[in-house]
Amino acid sequence: MDKIQVVGGKELRGRVEISGAKNAALPAMAAALLTPETVRLENIPYVRDILTTRALLEYMGVDAKVSKDGAGTFKAADIEALEAPYELVRTMRASILVLGPMLARFKRARVSLPGGCAIGARPINLHLQGLEKMGAKCDVSHGYVEAYTTGLQGACIRFETVTVTGTENLMMAAVLADGETILDNAACEPEVENLADMLRAMGAEIEGDGTCLIRIRGVKELKGCLHRIIPDRIEAGTFAIAAAITRGDVEIAECNPGHLTAVLNQLSLVGAEITLGETGFRVRGHTGISSKNLTTHPYPAFPTDMQAQYMALMTQGDGTSVITETIFENRFMHALELVRMGADIKMEGRQAAVCGGRLLTGANVQASDLRASASLILAGLAAEGETIIDRVYHLDRGYARIEEKMAGIGAEIKRIS
Ligand code: EPZ
Repeated sequence: MDKIQVVGGKELRGRVEISGAKNAALPAMAAALLTPETVRLENIPYVRDILTTRALLEYMGVDAKVSKDGAGTFKAADIEALEAPYELVRTMRASILVLGPMLARFKRARVSLPGGCAIGARPINLHLQGLEKMGAKCDVSHGYVEAYTTGLQGACIRFETVTVTGTENLMMAAVLADGETILDNAACEPEVENLADMLRAMGAEIEGDGTCLIRIRGVKELKGCLHRIIPDRIEAGTFAIAAAITRGDVEIAECNPGHLTAVLNQLSLVGAEITLGETGFRVRGHTGISSKNLTTHPYPAFPTDMQAQYMALMTQGDGTSVITETIFENRFMHALELVRMGADIKMEGRQAAVCGGRLLTGANVQASDLRASASLILAGLAAEGETIIDRVYHLDRGYARIEEKMAGIGAEIKRIS
């Protein structure tokens, strides 16, 4: 099993280009199920979750191709299996995103329940409640959702909790439903907007994406399209913290700074110098990092997917910061590994108090999930000596060639196979 070796103490300098967003590409690939015509996607990140989704679509009968240069073509003309099997879904929860499109176009679907993961229980009750409001029948048995409908109807759906893939799944179900659907308290993430742009290019009628009230008028059928995946704001944020924690000077290119406002504001607050550009931004870290409290919330607030990376930075703060995680109930697994590197972190429920100003020392640590693995790399960059990170298969799920990109801006980092 691969490991990542990091030797700390190097200031990062240079330019790094950001890949496409995993969390935008996954729903876009699922949306290809909505039409028999060819869907072309650009700027797809070549990461493991994308390959798992391709395998799932191929299993269903989609002619699915994804190349390392980010191009993808998908043709769902001859669907053979209206099923997402446990073997594929268990490795990637986002497989649930095929449920809405399958029900909308084929009126039935069998999808394995994703189950929980390291960061929380992550139920899908809001997805199923929304589909049932649209007239579907969703039975859960033997670890599968068996869903069917005589034809989805438009409905008014209010989410009790903001859910990103819940919003995306119901948006994809509603585009072929009979009548109008209103999604209230919907997720406003840029990935939701990117999906709405794609669905409109396919002929869908959608308004309000990017706000918490989305209106969808169903149409009879959808056509193929060419669609570009937005840059990965979480990858960009991860590199921004790499620059700050190493006191470096890095230009983060091929991304949309507007998708990172809350993150960049927080980095300015703790003392990093941020210079915004059109398609990128520059981060200059300075000697002092101020300890500042943080609370995660749905977009446009500070994202939970940047919390672990921020915690690594706060281990180098000049005082104590309190980090409050409001989205997932168990997203502090990285803290225990940071403590192994010498950090002083005390956790209670969904709060962690990080006492900064302590030198981190390199150690053997293990990743528990995608963003936790990124935070351990960041800590390794700031630590004295060598850090070996185990279970990097978590990292490969969502970061494309991160160690090569980090080495390209001066990090002493490599993969040990
Ligand atoms: C998406 O997950 C992202 N994944 C996650 O990124 C991200 O952490 C999360 O949104 C929050 O921003 C993808 O887009 C593929 P949610 P999702 O439904 O949609 C509760 C990464 O690192 N909830 O918005 O699964 C849920 O338990 C990943 O790239 C219900 O209770 O998250 C959580 O507490 C990790 N019932 C909250 O809502 C439901 O039916 C938000 O979860 C659905 C969600």
